[in-house]
Amino acid sequence: MSAPVSFDFSGKTVYVVGGTSGINYGIAQGFARAGARVAVASRSQDKVDAAVAGLKELGSDAFGVSLDVRDYEAVEKGFADVAGFFGSSIDVLISGAAGNFPARLLDMSPNAIRSVVEIDLLGTFHVMRAGHAHLTKPGASVINISAPQAFLPMSYQSHVCAAKAGVDMVTRTLSMEWGSDGIRVNSLVPGPIENTEGMDRLAPTPEIRAAVTKSVPLGRDGTVVDMANAAMMVSSEAGSYISGAILPVDGGWAQGGVGQMMGKMSRMLDKMRGA
Ligand code: HXC
Ligand code: NAP
Repeated sequence: MSAPVSFDFSGKTVYVVGGTSGINYGIAQGFARAGARVAVASRSQDKVDAAVAGLKELGSDAFGVSLDVRDYEAVEKGFADVAGFFGSSIDVLISGAAGNFPARLLDMSPNAIRSVVEIDLLGTFHVMRAGHAHLTKPGASVINISAPQAFLPMSYQSHVCAAKAGVDMVTRTLSMEWGSDGIRVNSLVPGPIENTEGMDRLAPTPEIRAAVTKSVPLGRDGTVVDMANAAMMVSSEAGSYISGAILPVDGGWAQGGVGQMMGKMSRMLDKMRGA
C-alpha cells in the first residue's frame, strides 16, 4: 500500500533540515535508497549521528550537522559544511524542522508561542535565505514541510496554524521569486503519519488515534514512505513543472471539516428515510 517507489537520484545531493527523525528522516531514507548523497541537520548531536549511521547503512554517502534553525549563522554554516563535505551544490533541499504541543493560547507563555513560531516559520525563512546560494543546479527542488494547520484553523493549535500558514506563503512567494533561477519551491502537507512524534503529541491514545484514522477518507494513516514517495515525485523529472504547489499527502484528510459534517448529515438523513 505504501511500498517504496523506484526513483533514481544517483549523483544528486539532498539536504534535509530537521531530517533526523519521523517524516523528514523517512524522506531522507527514501532519497538515500534512490542513490542520493544525503545530509541531515537537527539540534541533537545524538540524533544526527544515529540518522547518518542509518543513511550510510542504506548505501548513502551521508553527512550530518547539529544546528538550531532559529540561529541564522548556524544555518548558514550548516550549508557551508554540507557543500564542503560533498563538494557539490544541492539538488534537493527539504526544510521540515518543527515544534508542536497542543495548548490553548491563554495556556501558552509568550516564550511558548515564540518557540514554535521561531522554529517553524523563522526557521523556514532562515533555511530558504541561507540555502539559495547553494541551489545552483538546474532543476533544483525545494520542499517545505507544512501541515493541515496551515489552512484549517484548529483549537489548541493557534501557534502552529499561524506558523505553518506562514510557511506555505513563503513557499508560494519563493516559487515566484526563484522561478527565474530555475528553482522550484513546493510544500508537502502530511496528513496523520503513523509512528511519528507529531501524532504521538496530538493523538496520544489508541482511542484518539482510531478516531483520527476513521476521519481519513482513504481509511488509513499515512506512512513516512508515503511522504518520501511524494517528495521524490515532486523533486524528480516527473515534477519538473510543479512549483508553488501546496500538496496534501494525506489520503483526503484535510478536506475535512464542514464537508465531512455534510456527509455525516446526509448519511443520517438517508438512514432516517430508510434509503
Ligand atoms: C504550554 C508549553 C508546552 C505545552 C512547552 N511549552 N510545552 N507551553 N503547553 N504543552 C513551553 C515551555 O514551558 C517554554 O515556555 C516554551 O514552550 C519553550 O519550551 P522549551 O522546552 O524551553 O523550548 P525548546 O527546547 O526550544 O523546545 C521547543 C518545543 C519542543 C517546541 C517546546 O516541544 C520541541 O523541541 N519540539 C520538537 C519536536 C516536535 O515538536 N515534533 C513534533 C512536530 S509535529 P516558558 O515560558 O516556560 O519558558 C508538527 C505538526 C503535527 O509540527 C501535525 C499533525 C497533524
Ligand atoms: P519530529 O520527528 O519531531 O521531527 C522534527 C525534526 O525537526 C526532528 O529531526 C528534530 O530533531 C528537528 N528539529 C526540531 N526543532 C528543531 C530546531 N529548532 N532546529 C533544528 N532542527 C529541529 O516530528 P514529525 O512528526 O516527524 O514532523 C516532521 C514534520 O512534519 C514537521 O514539519 C511537522 O510539522 C510535519 N507534520 C507532521 C505530521 C505528523 O503526522 N507527524 C503531520 C503534519 C505535518 P531535534 O530534536 O534533534 O532538533
